[in-house]
Amino acid sequence: MKAWRISMWRDGSKICNFLIILFLVLSIFILNRMKSQYCPSPYGKAEELLKLEKPRTGEKNQLTVERRQSSIQEDEDDEEENNANIVHEPICQELNKRSDTCDARGDVRIQSINHTIFINSTKKEWKIKPYARKGDDMGALSHVSEWSLKPFVQVPNCTLKQDIPAVIFSINGYTGNMFHDFTDVIIPLFITTHQFHGRVQLLVTDTKPWWANKYKLILNQLSTHEPIDLAKDDSETIRCFSRVITGLHFHKELGVDSSKSPTGYSIVDFKVLLRKACRLERAAAVLSSVRKPRLLIISRNHSRSFVNEKGIVGMAAGLGFDVVVGEAGVSTDVSKFARLVNSADVLMGVHGAGLTNMVFLPSGAVVIQIVPYGGLEWLARETFMKPSRELELKYLEYRIQEEESTLIDQYSREDPVLRDPERVHKKGWNAMKTVYLEKQNVRPRLDRLKNTLMEALKLLRAT
Ligand SMILES: *[C@@H]1O[C@H](CO)[C@@H](O)[C@H](O)[C@H]1NC(C)=O
Ligand SMILES: *[C@@H]1O[C@H](CO)[C@@H](O)[C@H](O)[C@H]1NC(C)=O
Ligand SMILES: *[C@@H]1O[C@H](CO)[C@@H](O)[C@H](O)[C@H]1NC(C)=O
Ligand SMILES: *[C@@H]1O[C@H](CO)[C@@H](O)[C@H](O)[C@H]1NC(C)=O
Repeated sequence: MKAWRISMWRDGSKICNFLIILFLVLSIFILNRMKSQYCPSPYGKAEELLKLEKPRTGEKNQLTVERRQSSIQEDEDDEEENNANIVHEPICQELNKRSDTCDARGDVRIQSINHTIFINSTKKEWKIKPYARKGDDMGALSHVSEWSLKPFVQVPNCTLKQDIPAVIFSINGYTGNMFHDFTDVIIPLFITTHQFHGRVQLLVTDTKPWWANKYKLILNQLSTHEPIDLAKDDSETIRCFSRVITGLHFHKELGVDSSKSPTGYSIVDFKVLLRKACRLERAAAVLSSVRKPRLLIISRNHSRSFVNEKGIVGMAAGLGFDVVVGEAGVSTDVSKFARLVNSADVLMGVHGAGLTNMVFLPSGAVVIQIVPYGGLEWLARETFMKPSRELELKYLEYRIQEEESTLIDQYSREDPVLRDPERVHKKGWNAMKTVYLEKQNVRPRLDRLKNTLMEALKLLRAT
């Protein structure tokens, strides 16, 4: 190795130098091309779909580091490091690759009009977008306002003072899609605020008035105070607290990591809270001789719908199920629908936000996720399979085969859409989403699906 190098340099050949440089430039170019081709951004513009990052083995660390550069900007200025009056605790922390939070204590003053939080116990300046989709700058975060945390310099006087902690969070990102409502906001809000037993002020930024209204019953369980819409503050308003948390703690999709939550609570505590909020009667799915097991089919209208819904209903009724078909839209009364879900023993639906309703199921109930055609198993796993286990539910999956997908009516059998879904995935999230999530409806074969439903009955009886 060494000899080779020495002799090469001894030649002193300019051609050699040129070749090395050319080689390096080419490698960088090729690596870049490979990166953009094989690691496309999973994020697109559409808001009404579940957004998830396809796990890429071996690349995780690098990705995390890249993402970390973005959200928190810390002022470099450290000249007054020795000033004894100033507490130098890190106000803002990078929790993980999905969320950052800032926890300011002392004399904390919020000036909503220009998204500024003044803190007496710091001399550093920080910036944060309080929505748990860190890194998704072009997507969710493009609608989320940035807040500045600043030291006391020409600080305005308080006009309102509250003697409880406050939590600032945005509800603008991808909300309106039930999966995102829960995984991006409601569960992170639970993780962040459950420790205060209701003695906390929720401060909402980037308001969608209907959103806070829709989830009012759940928010009321988290805080005994009405949420405040910061957008309604006028230029004079200065809200003062002794503690303000900006940005919510995120652990995992639809989940809580009890080893990381402030006082060790878990997703099971969240379920208890939901039962209270929505007045859900059943804690556990128990079969009885006086009541048929209930199957709730989550129906979708516009994409990924069941073409043969009637046939499915008939087949399931034949197996002894009390079958109910439900469709939850944006305007659905959450607690009413939650009570319907809670009355079910089996929840079945095609992969989509509606399956988020599983949070309302009694423990021991069965979730059947119908996975559309097209290599979507990873998406199914990350969004609903993993969370279902932690929610104390049983999980079955029914994978749509080529001949059960309406894609065969639209594409020739030789088309890569049917032959080689991986190739479509490599074109990026939007290409994948358009074909497999938006253009596809399903017609599961009744005899195959029957086996899955019988399996569900078996699981219920095993409880
Ligand atoms: C910040 O304000 C709090 C509450 O008024 C006070 O107890 C604390 O000493 C102040 N800290 C500094 C560094 O001024
Ligand atoms: C803030 O309050 C202090 C003392 O109450 C007062 O002296 C000062 O003028 C006030 N500042 C402003 C800008 O109103
Ligand atoms: C913040 O808002 C106030 C009131 O509108 C304004 O006087 C002030 O200049 C603003 N500060 C900054 C830094 O924009
Ligand atoms: C679903 O479609 C049916 C018939 O096409 C229609 O009557 C119904 O209003 C739709 N529901 C929603 C929520 O769009």
